[in-house]
Amino acid sequence: MADLTRDVVVIGAGAAGLTAATEVKKAGLSVAVLEARDRVGGRLWTDTIEGAMLEIGGQWVSPDQDALKETIAELGLETYSRYREGDSVYVGPDGTLHRFTGEMFPVAPETEKTIAEITERLDAMVAEIDPDAPWAHPRAAEWDEVSWDAWLRAQTDDDEAVRNLAFATGSAMLTKPTHAFSLLQSLLMAASAGSYSNLVDADFILDKRVVGGLQQVPLLLAERLGDDVFLGQPVRTIEWSDAGATVISDGMTVHARHVVLALAPVLYNRISFVPALPRLQHQMHQHISMGFVIKVHAVYDRPFWREQGLSGTAFSPYELCHEAYDNTNHGDERGTLVGFVSDRNADDLFRLSAEERKERILESLAHYYGPEAKNPAVYYESDWGSEEWTRGAYAASFDLGGLHRYGADLRTPVGPISFACSDMAGAGYQHVDGAIRMGRFAAAGILDRARG
Ligand code: FDA
Repeated sequence: MADLTRDVVVIGAGAAGLTAATEVKKAGLSVAVLEARDRVGGRLWTDTIEGAMLEIGGQWVSPDQDALKETIAELGLETYSRYREGDSVYVGPDGTLHRFTGEMFPVAPETEKTIAEITERLDAMVAEIDPDAPWAHPRAAEWDEVSWDAWLRAQTDDDEAVRNLAFATGSAMLTKPTHAFSLLQSLLMAASAGSYSNLVDADFILDKRVVGGLQQVPLLLAERLGDDVFLGQPVRTIEWSDAGATVISDGMTVHARHVVLALAPVLYNRISFVPALPRLQHQMHQHISMGFVIKVHAVYDRPFWREQGLSGTAFSPYELCHEAYDNTNHGDERGTLVGFVSDRNADDLFRLSAEERKERILESLAHYYGPEAKNPAVYYESDWGSEEWTRGAYAASFDLGGLHRYGADLRTPVGPISFACSDMAGAGYQHVDGAIRMGRFAAAGILDRARG
């Protein structure tokens, strides 16, 4: 059992933890990063499956994500744009396929007008929200007590408008049923991307990818940290006092003045804290849960949809795969589609056999792209729900009423323990950008206290 003493111990080698470690080390403090898995990156994982490079976790970078963009540039990585030439497709309530361009779905004029009006209303509300303090808005309590679905349904009785407005923060982002989270949580999700309109703009939110895969960000950060990163070290116990902590993993004990807990908050309760965390943390952490989405990868010998003048961008609140995109790798002759199946649909699919699941998903992709979609050369489902050290996707959010009740306390350190994760970010919330911001934030707090 190795026994180390460092200034800072970071638990979790995702983007947040590796950023925090990099920052404190840059400032001259000694650091050890303990990671449960046998790889770094957490929810960033670029892997090769049957010869195809797939982004099993996070991949897209949007123009407002300055912290991620700075890190990408600093690490010397290159980006490229998502393929978006040609028409997008939308499947309506009667199953009819419509081609369209631009942001507005091809719906009836009345529905289009309703969507535009409510989007304008939402943009105005989002503009009043500070993503770092949504609970500070004068109407925070009121907006946190009504579900996203109930609020939308109170604005209009046009079901197609509601479904299309709901899914931007529902199936597509928080990946929970829209009755399960609040209007305030939805406004935070939009505010974290600048506006509700940004969030529904696929060309904005899914703008660029990194050549060679986004996992290179944590891989290169870890490479620079070198021997300070320890893999296969699930932390089981943190003994702490105001003077510091002893962190015990399966193979190591690290004594440190400061701890950064850089994992999804839903996993904190897997660690024994001695003494126990305060009452507030015990309560608060029970009101946060992971969303759930299956990311489906289908690789074909060529991007056949482009021959039909299709961009690959596809949406439908009525389809099993509520959204899908051309996800062809940079310089790849083969064509890759990526589709997403969210929340209750994902639950239902996992009750089926692997063959039935694949058939149902490919059937849904065929509704968008035609029968050729049913025969990929490589097929893979990213299932983060079964990953012991993540337990869902993309990230965690508060239940109804939890955000204004507890949000302000989520990042507040407890004794020597600071918290960092994309799931508690303001700007970049639930994204790699937010993870980096939270890594920087935890490191800055530690450096302030160390200079103290
Ligand atoms: P993360 O979960 O990555 O890291 C935590 C680390 O802690 C993990 O490595 C874990 O193993 C470790 N750990 C947990 N418990 C431990 C213990 N007890 N001891 C030691 N280690 C422990 N974002 C984006 O910007 N663009 C995108 O396109 C997408 N798309 C996307 C798709 C899918 C399928 C997923 C799952 C996620 C995304 N995301 C995304 C979200 C993005 O990937 C995510 O927000 C960040 O990578 C989270 O980084 P963190 O470092 O905060 O947590």
